Amino acid sequence: MTSIVKQKSTSSAMLTEVLEGLQKPQKTLPSKYFYDKRGSELFEKICTLDEYYLTRTELEIMQHNIREITSTLGKHVQLIELGSGSSLKTRLLLDHLDDIHSYVPVDISEEFLQNVTRDLQKEYPDLLIEPIAADYTKPFDLSESPEGVKKLFYFPGSTIGNFTRQKAADFIGLISNLIQEKGGLLIGFDLIKDREKLIAAYDDSKGVTAAFNKNILVRINRELNADFDPDQFKHRAVFNEKESRIEMHLVSLEEQSVTICREVICFEEGETIHTENSHKYSLRSFREMSAPFFENVQTWMDDEQLFAIQFLS
Ligand code: AVI
Repeated sequence: MTSIVKQKSTSSAMLTEVLEGLQKPQKTLPSKYFYDKRGSELFEKICTLDEYYLTRTELEIMQHNIREITSTLGKHVQLIELGSGSSLKTRLLLDHLDDIHSYVPVDISEEFLQNVTRDLQKEYPDLLIEPIAADYTKPFDLSESPEGVKKLFYFPGSTIGNFTRQKAADFIGLISNLIQEKGGLLIGFDLIKDREKLIAAYDDSKGVTAAFNKNILVRINRELNADFDPDQFKHRAVFNEKESRIEMHLVSLEEQSVTICREVICFEEGETIHTENSHKYSLRSFREMSAPFFENVQTWMDDEQLFAIQFLS
């Protein structure tokens, strides 16, 4: 049985971050706390929705270009996936990479990581899998790769869009520091497009994204001894054109107060908690961000140019 390297206990850090966010004039919650077991299940469901074009488009790009992508990535790689769970795309890489050394899934949710690892190990019994439970947005320990093995970071799914632009640039810098010699970063990001298509993707007709957004309150109730009434909040998705990002909010339906571990947080009617940013890039704006850290770029896109995958090395 593969053992998981766990890097930090999260519940006191979570309390600090949640209270800090809810005490700001524009209340916020860190979107990484969406992903408990239920949140991860809801997100998987979002990925199958008609309106949520991101997942299927990225997969199509991978399927159409997998030979070119894997020959660009080269041989003897240690595939380090940040935020594992995109199983079909991962399997495509595992099936086509030439002489892969190992697969290292890195994820904040230990339980989710355990399931992914167990399933993959069954399918790929000879593959060396070395899971790491960590918040990959902060520096984390990674062992040295053996001689001749390249570190290949894989960051699919437009998760980079959930970082502020500054954090995204810092993150790309962090990855470039972790890469030794000839490694690289294969990254997927969402492209700027019309507002209607974007809003529909984040406010779907079945209400799955609304349930995903509200689940963060259920998690805070359970893990931080809080008393949010999720029915007193409404999901809202808006496109912030200036920042080129979708914002998700939870709107308070009435004046109310909530207690979190003995701290009282008050809400006006209509006041919002900003729970997530999902930044959209042009090829140019993404290039400007990565240029200080990476030299070579190869890009693959779908015909409608909804989504892009780039290899940075
Ligand atoms: C994980 N991340 C890339 C998703 C996104 O599109 O920003 C999270 C998500 N939020 C609502 N729907 C999906």
